[in-house]
Amino acid sequence: MPTKARKPASKRVPAKAPSRGAAARPKGRAKAVAQARAPVAPPPIRTPKPKPSAKLKIAFKPRAGDITEVLIGSALIPEAGEGLLRSGGAALVVIDAGLPRSLVEPLLRALDRTGTRWDVAVVTPSEENKSLATLEDILSHAARGRMERGDLLIAVGGGVACDVAGLAAALYRRGVRHVLCPTTLLAMVDASVGGKTAVNIRASREPKAALLKNLVGAFHQPARVVCDMQALETLPARHFAAGLAECVKHGLIGGSCGDAGLMDWLTKNRPRLTARDPVACADLVARNIRLKGRVVSADEREASPKPDGGRMMLNLGHTFAHAIETLPGLSWRAAGDRTDAQHLAAVTLGPLLHGEAVGLGLLCAAHAGERLKVSPAGLADSLRAMLARIGLPTRVEGLPPSEHVAERMIDDKKTQGGRLRLILPAKGRKAKVIHAPPRDVVIAAINSVRG
Ligand SMILES: NC(=O)c1ccc[n+]([C@@H]2O[C@H](COP(=O)([O-])OP(=O)(O)OC[C@H]3O[C@@H](n4cnc5c(N)ncnc54)[C@H](O)[C@@H]3O)[C@@H](O)[C@H]2O)c1
Repeated sequence: MPTKARKPASKRVPAKAPSRGAAARPKGRAKAVAQARAPVAPPPIRTPKPKPSAKLKIAFKPRAGDITEVLIGSALIPEAGEGLLRSGGAALVVIDAGLPRSLVEPLLRALDRTGTRWDVAVVTPSEENKSLATLEDILSHAARGRMERGDLLIAVGGGVACDVAGLAAALYRRGVRHVLCPTTLLAMVDASVGGKTAVNIRASREPKAALLKNLVGAFHQPARVVCDMQALETLPARHFAAGLAECVKHGLIGGSCGDAGLMDWLTKNRPRLTARDPVACADLVARNIRLKGRVVSADEREASPKPDGGRMMLNLGHTFAHAIETLPGLSWRAAGDRTDAQHLAAVTLGPLLHGEAVGLGLLCAAHAGERLKVSPAGLADSLRAMLARIGLPTRVEGLPPSEHVAERMIDDKKTQGGRLRLILPAKGRKAKVIHAPPRDVVIAAINSVRG
């Protein structure tokens, strides 16, 4: 890395990030360390109160070397590289352009203190920018800085920044270690764990060609995931609600993932969560990461032939969601009780956020599941009420004809031989794979979220 890269940190954080001053590091922060008994049973996470802080290790099969250590707590981002950096080594920090400086500067100062050569690559997060061009930009930064295989890539940001940075880490010199510091709830509970990295591409150079989500990627497990609850303080309400949609997804299939009680816990704690109580949020993140860790440990590459789909079950609702997510011209009205939804504008215009589309996809899956007698009766209604209370859309206006949406679902990665495979929420909070669901069931499910 060029030494001129080591300017004062304040000059190097993206100009777009609003200045909020350096974050104060709380004194006397307790740190609990739990050793893993992975691969299949990640250890319990302890979250000392009132400053939640814990360490969890998850190991992924089949390669014994792939150990992901997950840290959950407050003011942890500065420690992202601790113990992973070589003396005199280099770090490339990939930063989400939307972050406040206060989240990133302490990390850069910590790297300075350890004598680490560092450089910064900035990612402006959007599905359009989750692209080969952004990937190349990160790789060029790494090459310019002469990063070696033993050096470290650290990503700080939402799911987009983490996914692209993870792919860069998988590809640069055929693989360097990386640390993910997810800063959205969605990235904490889902995107940062499990080693899936990707960018979107189009099937043709036509500017109007549909964006094919996550079509190009690799499995590359992060060496460490750092979930810092301070990041959630600045996260816009709409993005916080979108992250809760992935937690609801986990709740619907918790019985297949060793946590059948998650949905009841979510229902009971919803007011604390939407108020962003840091202890409740740390518990939420820990519980969801543990759940995902169990599933990924058992089936890292989505190869399980089990009827619940193995890792594929985590795609519950996503076949519908991906078909809806990138559609232009959608709008929705915040429903439910205004205390939870009051942060949202009365009418929100698309495109939908990923988590919002996932919420709609869950509703479609529950609707289809009830029609096929896989899901318990009344599930779609109770789910609709819960999503509305969180402040998520439950119906959208402007959907194209359902036949068109169903056609887009064929592009899903779970399609086999042109036949759709759906994951549905089954009785007992379990997941079930349905092969080639009847067309009229799929169409009715899509219609159930039409505003
Ligand atoms: N790899 C996986 O297993 C996996 C799983 C789920 C989702 N994903 C991917 O994650 C992406 C969605 O991630 P996302 O929901 O985090 O969206 P995102 O990355 O687009 O971030 C959302 C917005 O929040 C801003 N932001 C991030 N952290 C912030 C903070 N602490 N304070 C203020 N603003 C902040 C960002 O700048 C951005 O504008 C999708 O591309 C999806 O495909 C990947």
